Formats: sequence, structure tokens, C-alpha cells
Amino acid sequence: MEITIISGKLDKLKTELFLVPVFSGKVKTALFIKEMDTMLNKTLLKEMARQDFKGKKGQQVYLNIPGNKRISHLLLVGMGKKKREYLDDWRQFAAVGARFANKLKCKKMAVPLLPVESNKALQRQCRQVCEGLNLALYKFNKYKSNQDDDVKLKSVTLLPPLPIRRKVKHGLIKEVQKAQDVSRAVCLARDLINEPPNVLNPPAMAEIAQKMAEETDNLTCQILTPKEMQEKNMNLLLAVSSGSPIEPRLIHLHYQPPKNQSNNQVVALVGKGLTFDAGGLCLKPAQHMAHMKGDMGGGAVVIGAMYAISKLKPNMEVHGLVPASENMPGGKAFKMDDVITGMGKKSVEICNTDAEGRLILADALSYALSLDCNEIIDFATLTGACMVALGDYTAGVFGNNDRMVHRFMRAGQEAGEDLWRLPLTEALKESMKSEVADTKNIGSRMGGAIGAALFLQEFVENKPWIHVDIAGPAFSEADSGYKTKGGTGFGIMTALEYLLV
Ligand code: BES
Ligand code: ZN
Ligand code: ZN
Repeated sequence: MEITIISGKLDKLKTELFLVPVFSGKVKTALFIKEMDTMLNKTLLKEMARQDFKGKKGQQVYLNIPGNKRISHLLLVGMGKKKREYLDDWRQFAAVGARFANKLKCKKMAVPLLPVESNKALQRQCRQVCEGLNLALYKFNKYKSNQDDDVKLKSVTLLPPLPIRRKVKHGLIKEVQKAQDVSRAVCLARDLINEPPNVLNPPAMAEIAQKMAEETDNLTCQILTPKEMQEKNMNLLLAVSSGSPIEPRLIHLHYQPPKNQSNNQVVALVGKGLTFDAGGLCLKPAQHMAHMKGDMGGGAVVIGAMYAISKLKPNMEVHGLVPASENMPGGKAFKMDDVITGMGKKSVEICNTDAEGRLILADALSYALSLDCNEIIDFATLTGACMVALGDYTAGVFGNNDRMVHRFMRAGQEAGEDLWRLPLTEALKESMKSEVADTKNIGSRMGGAIGAALFLQEFVENKPWIHVDIAGPAFSEADSGYKTKGGTGFGIMTALEYLLV
């Protein structure tokens, strides 16, 4: 979508839909209301009163203005009480407008930016509005013969508060560009998640990552095949993929900051890339196998984040690692009771083949350690237990370094993604002790999300590390706000916020 900033008076505006945010309180004197009322022969205030519009969250007033040469539709959107911390209110607001415009089949829309307390707040408002517009209109319809529901809205004009200095306008233009890059990254992740598993298998996922890297000038991409995995003793990753005729891949993206701009930090992002999790020999029942194409959601976050990183150019080095595999019950599949030792040299007794994510992540984490990074962050649709604990909207965060966790939680808040820290309860380790190996791959059913995190912790050797269980928010059952049904790309915005401050 084309997004432009016009710093002119309202009476120069010509658009199809004018989308106006209104905070609760004195709505009659809210910005643009008087002007619009005059333009509409005093019908707007009357209509607002008739509908008892108070600017409350969720309230809307819509006016069709046939015959008007400048604006054909007007939509007022209630924003609720004005508060300092907006979180993602502006994204939600823009999403309402974008969906509305699309339903009206408008090609053009205009949105004012409201005066806020600081330049920084204005930039944030601008960026969130752009992200909300782009993300709400995301569609995955490439396999539909009838594409009538294609997005009609093509261009949006933003109107910053007047008067505006050149420098400020320049700052806003930069924010628009940032928002376009971040939105593209999130949509790329959504595409990867929504792609069916017969198309997006591990080699296909690797190819997409490679192509993406080739189109940039600061990302390299190395793909490890089973032969290289064997050389590195990645036997856990190989075991998980052994029940499938389709080979696994380990995707290794690498970003280097511009010359002389490095702060010598090296971060590894690691994402679970199960392109289909049937459960292996511990086969999932049908109702639990549905949507398991989305079990590469963590990998999608990493690939999407690396795309945005190549555009936004943070001043640290970043590795993006995605172990990609299927988990199938073929004749060569790994079995319960198998004992397998991966790259991290710890032997693992397999007690459930459906607890496979932690196995492929263990090898990817060991590989990350071999890259000499300072910090590791992994994203994974790891446990149903995390969804039971926190619901569909919240990711569980675990970490062995309080400072790093606090920074990450703050980044989540800034990004508008809902995170909740969970503990690495030492006492639960007891249930993972094995008679025959260094550890089992599962512990007690109670605290299942914690058990999975404790397992991963064994493979990071005290390196500052965060594990984000995105099993709930990675996938959405319905369109809502700027989220769309299917893959959400949840995690990318927090990761970027974390890396860019
Ligand atoms: N991919 C699943 C976790 C999952 C469940 C993600 C639902 C998204 C939605 C994971 O590999 C798995 O099967 N976990 C098991 C672990 C159990 C066998 C210890 C689970 O959560 O039931
Ligand atoms: Zn599983
Ligand atoms: Zn899984």
C-alpha cells in the first residue's frame, strides 16, 4: 500500500474515506469535528448526538456523503480515554479504518495524525497507524480461484498536525518507511505460516530464506543439509526428521551491520521450524493435528525478523537460525525409548516423540553457541501447556538472565505484543531425570511449558538466553483488529524493538 504524508490544510483534501479518531470527553470540540460539521451543513454534530457518540472505544459514526466532491465517506472512531501509554491503540484504530474502507471498496483513504505530547509520540503514532493499515489488510488467497475479496484500498494519505516543521515531517516519512518494512516482515511470516505443508516443507522453507537473503545486500544465508548435520552431530534434529521422506534443513541467516557501526554485540535468533507436526509415532489425534502446519511459526518469526533487520540495520550482528523438519510416523521414525546424543553432547531418552520441538531446538541452540554469540533468543510453538496456562493471546517468556528478560519484556510492551514471564522451576527437573540417559525429553504433565523450557536451558550453557513459547498467539482463529485469521507473525515486533533500542 502506498502511504504518503501531506502537510496541507484540510480544505485541500480530496479522498474517498476520511477516517477520524476521537478521544472520549469533549467530542464536539474534538479535532476536525467543527470543520466537518460545517462542511456537512451541520448534520455531523446532530448525527453524533443522535447516536450518543461519546468517543468511547468501539463506538463509531459513519456518514455517507454522496455528491461531495472532496470526501465521499466519513468515519469517526472512538478511541476511549486519552492516556500516555498507547500500546497498540493506534494500530487497532487504523485496522478498523482499513477494514471499513475495504468493505466500502474505497481505493483511497485519508487519516489525520493527532497532536501528541512529543515528537517521539507523534512518530510512534504515525508508525503504528501505518502498521495497522498494512497488517489488517493482509490476505492469503493465492489458492482461491475467486479473488473477489482482493484488497481494494491502495493509497492512504496521512495528515500531520499543523504547522509542521520540515525536520518533523522528515522524521515522519522515515517512520512510514520503517512501518512498511516491519509490516512486510510480519506479512512474510504470515505467508510462511499460512502456506500449506505440502508446499512449505523444510527444503522449500530454506529456499525462501535463501532467496530473501539474495535480494538484500547485507544478509548471507547458509543451508545445512543432512550430510552437514551428520558432520556436526545434530542427531536430535536428524532423529525428528527420520520418520519423513522429506529431508530436514538448518537455515542460517547472518546479518552484519554497516562498517564501523558495530557495537560488538552478537545476537542469535532461533526459531522452531516444524513444517508439519503429526506427532511422530506418538501420533496426534485429528483434532490436535489441525493447524500443525503452523508449527514453524517460530521459524517464520526468525525469517521475518531477519528481513526487517536487513532493512532497519541495527548496529549489532545477528544470526537467524531455523531448524526445519517434519515430524512424521514413517517406518524409519525415531521411537520412544531411543537414546540420542546431539551436538550438545547430552544424551536424551525419548519418552514422547511429540515433544520434538525441544529436540530440534537443542541442536540449533548448540549450533548457536558455536557461533560465539553474546545472547540467544528462541521463538517456538512449543507446548499446548503454555496455551492452557496463558490463553491464545499471550506468549510465555523464560530466561536465565534477569536483565535480559526485563529488557525483553519492555520491548514487548513497546511493541504491543502480550508477554508474560514464567519461571524455570528447579524442582520440576526431578521429573525429567532418566535411568538410561542424561535427561528425558519430557517431565511431568503439570507445568509442561516450564518442563520444555528447562530442557532447552540444558543446552545453552549459561549463555544469556530467552525462550518465548508462542504456541498460543502464533496462530489466530479469527480476523480481529490488525490480526488476521491464520498465522499472525507474533514475536517479530518485540524482537525488532529489542534489537533496535
Ligand atoms: N507443536 C506442539 C505444541 C503445540 C500445540 C503448538 C498446540 C501449537 C498448538 C508440540 O510439538 C507438542 O506436540 N507438544 C506436546 C508436548 C507433550 C507431548 C509433552 C504438547 O504440548 O502436548
Ligand atoms: Zn509435537
Ligand atoms: Zn511441535
